[in-house]
Amino acid sequence: MQDAHSIRKYLPTLTGLVLAVLGATAVPLLAQTTNSEGANSVSNTPPAIPVLQIKANQVVAKVSPALYGLMTEEINFSYEGGLYGELVRNRTFKASRTNAVYWKTVGSAAISIDTNQPLNSALNVSLKLDTSKASKNSPAGIANGGYWGIPVRPNTTYHASFYAKGDNFSGSLTVSLVHVVSTNGQTIKSQGFEWYLGEMTTPVASATVPKISKDWQKYEVTLTTAGNVATSKDNRLVISTTQPGTWWSQHGTVWFQQVSLFPPTFNNRANGNRPDLMQMLANLHSKFLRFPGGNYLEGSTIAERFAWQKTIGDISQRPGHESPWGYWSTDGFGLMEYLEWCEDLQLEPLLAVYAGYSLRQQHIDPGTNLDSYVQDALDEIEYVTGNPSTKWGAQRAQDGHPAPFPLHYVEIGNEDQFDRSGSYDGRFTQFYDAIKAKYSNLQVIATTRVTSREPDLIDEHYYRSQEDMEAHALDYDQRPRTGPKIFVGEWATRVGSPTPNMAGALGDAAWMTGMERNSDLVVMSSYAPLFVNVSKLAGPDRSIQWRTDLIGYDALRGYGSPAYYAQTMFSTHHGDEILATDSQNIPTRDWQPPAGWRNGVGQPRPPVQPLRQIFFDATRDTGNGAIYLKVVNELGTPQPVKIEISGVPAVEPEGTAFVLKANRPDDANSIQEPTKIIPVTEKVDGLGTDFTREFPPYSITVLELKTK
Ligand code: AHR
Repeated sequence: MQDAHSIRKYLPTLTGLVLAVLGATAVPLLAQTTNSEGANSVSNTPPAIPVLQIKANQVVAKVSPALYGLMTEEINFSYEGGLYGELVRNRTFKASRTNAVYWKTVGSAAISIDTNQPLNSALNVSLKLDTSKASKNSPAGIANGGYWGIPVRPNTTYHASFYAKGDNFSGSLTVSLVHVVSTNGQTIKSQGFEWYLGEMTTPVASATVPKISKDWQKYEVTLTTAGNVATSKDNRLVISTTQPGTWWSQHGTVWFQQVSLFPPTFNNRANGNRPDLMQMLANLHSKFLRFPGGNYLEGSTIAERFAWQKTIGDISQRPGHESPWGYWSTDGFGLMEYLEWCEDLQLEPLLAVYAGYSLRQQHIDPGTNLDSYVQDALDEIEYVTGNPSTKWGAQRAQDGHPAPFPLHYVEIGNEDQFDRSGSYDGRFTQFYDAIKAKYSNLQVIATTRVTSREPDLIDEHYYRSQEDMEAHALDYDQRPRTGPKIFVGEWATRVGSPTPNMAGALGDAAWMTGMERNSDLVVMSSYAPLFVNVSKLAGPDRSIQWRTDLIGYDALRGYGSPAYYAQTMFSTHHGDEILATDSQNIPTRDWQPPAGWRNGVGQPRPPVQPLRQIFFDATRDTGNGAIYLKVVNELGTPQPVKIEISGVPAVEPEGTAFVLKANRPDDANSIQEPTKIIPVTEKVDGLGTDFTREFPPYSITVLELKTK
């Protein structure tokens, strides 16, 4: 993956394509020694029914309690246009220096970006509205269509707010949610003439701000929809006036800043999150959240890194910044919002701190130049964990959260193997020493191999094809247990777009059996990316930057991919002990890995290799004795498998199966068919210490077996 990754960094727009071709640099299938499922058991022509043995009296290791987590960053409109509740796009008018992008005029209004009327030094521009052509019949104003629509539901209260000031204008302003019935307009013929009626809109909720001051002030209203309003995303927020100016001058001007609209949020948090997406995350029962990236932590340049101090406090004091994924971030979703997300879902924060390297090969050499960045990281940790008597703990309390957040893991940078200056070892050492000196309880994660210090964990990233995932699913069985523990901080089977299809889920499940079976070594893992807005999948201003993302949504609805459901099955149904397993007669198919690259040079295609088609692992819950057997059938045919369990007196005949399956590997969920592939729960009978079960084609099964 090293070569594939480095090329991807230089060709950000081709990431998907390049990875699909280069990601598959498989090595020959390795033996699974931990659980003694040897390479000898692999054969090209399965002579007999596959046999899986669970040795319930041989506990290999403990399952890491933090194995299943989440990774997140601002990509694919994950927060703004995604999880973050804000419905107004470009609310601070900083997405373009010159144009009021994503804003429209209403009536005969004129609008422009004004750099001479800043709200403050953070929000140092404003939107200037010329109201002089406003009239009763033709109000003048501004309109915003959100992130590919504004969701409106019946009996719902929205909170609108904005900063404004007027010149030759004191009000009033009408704030409305307007349903766009037709954008094309209509042409009708009447009395020999053709009349163009323009687009048709109808207001669904309104409120009035009676007076506008000549100095900047914040205005807030609530907009409540009636019970008969239809649920739709074809809506706009409109702020307009019928008054051209004051009685002494008809040439009014209004300046706006931070025009915001929030729907109800998860746990009713102010500046909070979209409830449906939070609920989908809650259903994953994850243990931690790695944030804020990913590339989003690093930024394209040092100036565009995630500078956490600029993302806290009142949202009107956050300047925002350009993200490496090609769009502006207001930073309304900042450090505190990540922490509150953790709190709401009982996730532990896994804090990645900026470590002096940005994507366009900008870096800061270790030494005194790096000191201020190290101090930033220490301050950030203090903001998260410090007592309110500390400087940054006090700041957090002032920002509304006196209680410290729990924190055990800090990651130094992201994918620093791409820093061609080779400065990471030195940079890591400087951060590691400073963090350990002040916070000896923290586990420090390195993003690539280092030699000067031994990190507590190493973060490994794998983006692979289905076959490549399968070919590598047994890798960790072979890894030495010396050295740092492993955090697989980003991984995904990249099949299907915008969200993975069943083939992706099957590759993921094969890979997860390997991580779970080895979770004494792989103590944490998180799929990436988590989110994608699927509203505009091609062309300029598209809503996707990275194909194959776990959860998709538009302004109104969200859905989980089959890979999402595979994750919920794995993270919800497992024990706390890893049991020894063995197998015979595992079916295989022939696969020739694509040619890879090394140091920019194309390599010959590796030979054909057998690719195993059934993957499994077994864990036990010491609380109730239940055994969880996970079986992944990659084949397109039903597969009978003989299961033998030793080391327990008996297994009850009745148990439960959680099954995810599809008719075809390219079957997928979507906004239109959100639940085409979802897990079903079945009561099963005929279980015991020796039984045969047929696993459906293209399926992932968790069998919950009760032992006596
Ligand atoms: O997950 C998408 C990107 O892949 C991450 O931002 C980066 O860490 C990796 O290269």
